[in-house]
Amino acid sequence: MASDDCPVMHSLALLICALSFSSTVRAQVPTPPKGDLVDICNQISATISHESEVFFPPSSEYTADNAHAFSSSSAASACSVEPGSAQDIGAILGVLGSTRTPFSVKSGGHATNPGFSSTTGVQISMARFRDITVNSTAGTVELGPGLTWDEVYTALEPTGVIVVGGRIPGVGVGGLLLGGGYSYKSSQLGLGIDNIVGIEVVLPNGTFTTVTSEDEDIWFALRGGMNNFGIVTKFALKSYPQGQIWAGTLAFGADQLDAFNQAFAKFTQNNDTKAAAVGRLAYVSGAVLPALLVFYDAPTPPAGLFEDFLAIPTVSSDVSTTTFADFVLSVDFTNAPPSLRGYWSGISVAQYTPAILNAIANQTLFWGNKLTPLDANVSVVVALEPFSSGVFSHGAGSAFPPDRSFALFPTAVEYLWSNASLDGTMAQELRESSDTIHAAALAEGQNVSHAAPYINYALFDTSVEDLYGENLPRLRAIKKEIDPEDVMGLAGGFKI
Ligand SMILES: Cc1cc2nc3c(=O)[nH]c(=O)nc-3n(C[C@H](O)[C@H](O)[C@H](O)COP(=O)(O)OP(=O)(O)OC[C@H]3O[C@@H](n4cnc5c(N)ncnc54)[C@H](O)[C@@H]3O)c2cc1C
Ligand SMILES: *[C@@H]1O[C@H](CO)[C@@H](O)[C@H](O)[C@H]1NC(C)=O
Ligand SMILES: *[C@@H]1O[C@H](CO)[C@@H](O)[C@H](O)[C@H]1NC(C)=O
Ligand SMILES: *[C@@H]1O[C@H](CO)[C@@H](O)[C@H](O)[C@H]1NC(C)=O
Ligand SMILES: *[C@@H]1O[C@H](CO)[C@@H](O)[C@H](O)[C@H]1NC(C)=O
Ligand SMILES: *[C@@H]1O[C@H](CO)[C@@H](O)[C@H](O)[C@H]1NC(C)=O
Ligand SMILES: *[C@@H]1O[C@H](CO)[C@@H](O)[C@H](O)[C@H]1NC(C)=O
Ligand SMILES: *[C@@H]1O[C@H](CO)[C@@H](O)[C@H](O)[C@H]1NC(C)=O
Repeated sequence: MASDDCPVMHSLALLICALSFSSTVRAQVPTPPKGDLVDICNQISATISHESEVFFPPSSEYTADNAHAFSSSSAASACSVEPGSAQDIGAILGVLGSTRTPFSVKSGGHATNPGFSSTTGVQISMARFRDITVNSTAGTVELGPGLTWDEVYTALEPTGVIVVGGRIPGVGVGGLLLGGGYSYKSSQLGLGIDNIVGIEVVLPNGTFTTVTSEDEDIWFALRGGMNNFGIVTKFALKSYPQGQIWAGTLAFGADQLDAFNQAFAKFTQNNDTKAAAVGRLAYVSGAVLPALLVFYDAPTPPAGLFEDFLAIPTVSSDVSTTTFADFVLSVDFTNAPPSLRGYWSGISVAQYTPAILNAIANQTLFWGNKLTPLDANVSVVVALEPFSSGVFSHGAGSAFPPDRSFALFPTAVEYLWSNASLDGTMAQELRESSDTIHAAALAEGQNVSHAAPYINYALFDTSVEDLYGENLPRLRAIKKEIDPEDVMGLAGGFKI
């Protein structure tokens, strides 16, 4: 998008607008004057039941409702509202839609893009949707989107069942499941969205409905369609028995980078769907330090699977036989202090070869050297996420991924920093570095010219054409049908 298409407005939104290559990110809905917004907040307050509440600064509820894992994903909203019922969400959407007021929807607040779950208009927090209901007859667990995955696993632990969800503490049920959802169980059971059996949602016109596979279009659209089709109030997921696991974190010194890359490339060839790993290459003081999360879905892994990793000398290791919840709670891998700014960029690769791992390590070193002098809190990390070749074979007919015919591995380039004046630089370098990694995958013959980046990792400049591929025309048709007034276009995010 040319910057002269960008309306004059709040500086953060303007920056996002100017940096966008396409018109897909609508964090730039013009915000009405503050006084009008306060009127709208009061109008919402007068419309909702006692189950819901509107909050203004500086209340602690307002502060919590606006908080995010990365400070760059937060904005100062005019007010926040915590709906307590689907009916009240319908009423809130009615006010916001008729007044064309920018708003946002936040569940776990782990969006890595500014304006995706924040706004200078009305912030909707799903904090009151926190029910967990196990139905052993149906073999399902119903979850409120306001829960985090570590809360879900901790609550499920005594029941002996598990669901397919996030891997890191703090990440919300809402955003992860609307974008796809990669789990430690995904090689065995597919994405989070492949394990959904029902979705309760308030549609953009305020109608509350339960969506299942019978509802072809909206079922297709909601699973990967993020916040484009309404506000989700509940997910019902398939449940599976869960016993003890073998898992932990291994950290290596910079001198082990080659050994790590060799072992990692070899590991990705394994055919054992109970095995999972997340690799991490991090820039530290002029060097690249590898680290690894290992997971095996049984108390002990079979011989031959993890030995190459275990043979590499570690700086630290806490691998043990443990419970699913305890392992997830122990992971301190990609979380940062909430005062830091942060953007992620997603690239999909078809293979982790030694050559692509070397190219990723080189990018980590190159940008680490270049960016760390700018800000003492800069962190440059790439997360490597291999899955089985059948990872997309466990489901069908969803907005994401646009092509399930072969596996793609979501790779996240992750930058953190402190100084807000570096936001534009960071976005630009993140784009350049991820394009370089993508080009390296193409150069070694990987079939990734049209590989969709994972929506939940994609940098805000990514086009919806790249994200949704051949699914885009159908998604646009469904959008027209379900949201003719484009109410959800008032909320930021990737807009189809
Ligand atoms: C530290 C970290 C670890 C991560 N680990 C994983 C992982 O293991 N697997 C994985 O797949 N992804 C992972 N991610 C990516 C993660 O899935 C996305 O950031 C996800 O969008 C976060 O969801 P949230 O509810 O916390 O975020 P939010 O910021 O609250 O929401 C993200 C987006 O979803 C929309 N949304 C949220 N709730 C609703 C709702 N109820 N109705 C409609 N729209 C809604 C928001 O409007 C926003 O656009 C991780 C991210 C981070 C930062
Ligand atoms: C559990 O699921 C069964 C089968 O779908 C259903 O009949 C029953 O009403 C559910 N129980 C609860 C408490 O929702
Ligand atoms: C995985 O399966 C493929 C095809 O069945 C086989 O060629 C390959 O050797 C297997 N890899 C391992 C590490 O067992
Ligand atoms: C490392 O990355 C930089 C910057 O992208 C590039 O100029 C350089 O050629 C790369 N080196 C290697 C060995 O790939
Ligand atoms: C780095 O981050 C810490 C904690 O997040 C903060 O207190 C400190 O001021 C930051 N340093 C700089 C140079 O911005
Ligand atoms: C942030 O960066 C700007 C410009 O790059 C600089 O002038 C300012 O001093 C920096 N602030 C801090 C706290 O380092
Ligand atoms: C390459 O990927 C495209 C989709 O991006 C797919 O249609 C095609 O079949 C793939 N080719 C091979 C050889 O796998
Ligand atoms: C709301 O939208 C849904 C989906 O398009 C539609 O089925 C329903 O009739 C609409 N409700 C009203 C009251 O317009």
